[in-house]
Amino acid sequence: MSAKWSYIKDLKDHVGEIVTIKGWIFNKRSSGKINFLQIRDGTGFVQGIIEKTSSEETFVKADKIKLESSVIIEGKVREDKRSPYGYELDVNDIEIIQIPLEEYPISKKDHGIDFLMNNRHLWLRSQKQFHILHVRNEIIWAVREFYRNNGFILVDTPILTGAIGESAGELFSVDYFDLGKAYLTQTGQLYLEAAAMALGKVYNLGPTFRAEKSKTRRHLTEFWMNEAEVAYYSSNDNMHLQEELVSYVVGRVLERAGDHLKALERDVKPLEKVQTPFPRISYDEGVKLLQKKGFDIKWGDDIGGDEETGISEEFDRPVMVYNYPRKIKAFYMQPDPQRPEVVLCDDMLAPEGYGEIIGASERINDPDLLTERIKEFNLPVDSYDWYIDLRKYGTVPHSGFGMGIERLVSWICKLEHIREAIPFARTIYRIHP
Ligand code: 4AD
Ligand code: MG
Repeated sequence: MSAKWSYIKDLKDHVGEIVTIKGWIFNKRSSGKINFLQIRDGTGFVQGIIEKTSSEETFVKADKIKLESSVIIEGKVREDKRSPYGYELDVNDIEIIQIPLEEYPISKKDHGIDFLMNNRHLWLRSQKQFHILHVRNEIIWAVREFYRNNGFILVDTPILTGAIGESAGELFSVDYFDLGKAYLTQTGQLYLEAAAMALGKVYNLGPTFRAEKSKTRRHLTEFWMNEAEVAYYSSNDNMHLQEELVSYVVGRVLERAGDHLKALERDVKPLEKVQTPFPRISYDEGVKLLQKKGFDIKWGDDIGGDEETGISEEFDRPVMVYNYPRKIKAFYMQPDPQRPEVVLCDDMLAPEGYGEIIGASERINDPDLLTERIKEFNLPVDSYDWYIDLRKYGTVPHSGFGMGIERLVSWICKLEHIREAIPFARTIYRIHP
């Protein structure tokens, strides 16, 4: 086979030319006289056509092909308006790399979710997963681009940490040589705070771990989080930054991954509304709104998944709920000087029932108050010595947030469950494959 190797996504530039494609067969059918091969190569999908009359030998090879055979195919590119892919290939030669040793386990019929998750290593090849992973890719690029455009410095925070994090009790531990236990990070925030005092505006993007026994459609035990931290930012500045980020990311995804959203049958109208400014309501107003809607909630209660949906369905874009009671939030949040029972924080809730995508706050900058809070939350003060140190040497007000990448993917793709928003999901029931 002598023709030039082309990726399927580039076929549009080769109409009328003979090319080779290196990929796999994901579907096939035959009319007796014509074999139709559905080919994928990781960049797209295309149909190849082999007429018996034009090449008997190639036709017989196509007959032998089973689902997920790996093949190199040579053919002439033709534009085809009727094809869902826009182009077709008139095949003149096939080189079979491998015919699967066993029948491919994933077929067109409906499989249960457990079966699909057990076969995640193969399920990734299917079209829906292909499109989701493309959207995820665009989201992450857009996030990084936003920070680069806005003068932020990437600071990679550690995965292995001492006993330090968001809250006790949700930590995965590992044996760590002579030092006893180390823990998988729940958040890079505390390290980002240190970096913000060195570099001003910083961000990270990496895996995060939570040993929480939540089995909801929104929880993973390992997820990717993007965090940002800015010195001298108030809670108000922080909210502004979050809406700029989220509207930027959604805008870029619409622009660059529109075809993938379309293939996922995602109605993009609600996404097109994601423009700044985003609505903001206080926790107090949120509770009143929920009470009016019949929720059994009183001031001081946490806002759970159903309540989040109850609030977000009142708005056509993400909403920021700010100033929660300090008792239900993390130890490091700065109290409101006017009302010490609430903290200067916000959660951003996605529309369409997707719940919290961002958790944010201004941080306590007084060393004594911080120490008091660490004790109050029964956290090991010794492990936090360096974190308290930051408040001893030129302390300043500062704020930041964390955004869950898979929550964002789920919402933007409108997935039913977060497990499809990450290549290999980790939940309390699953560590394989
Ligand atoms: O609200 P969280 O717990 O906030 C923090 O960890 C802060 N330290 C972040 C910061 O201020 N730098 O988590 C942040 C976000 C949530 O809003 C949610 O989108 C996501 O991380 N998240 C999860 N995503 C999937 N599975 C889980 N178990 C998640 N827990 C949080
Ligand atoms: Mg949160």
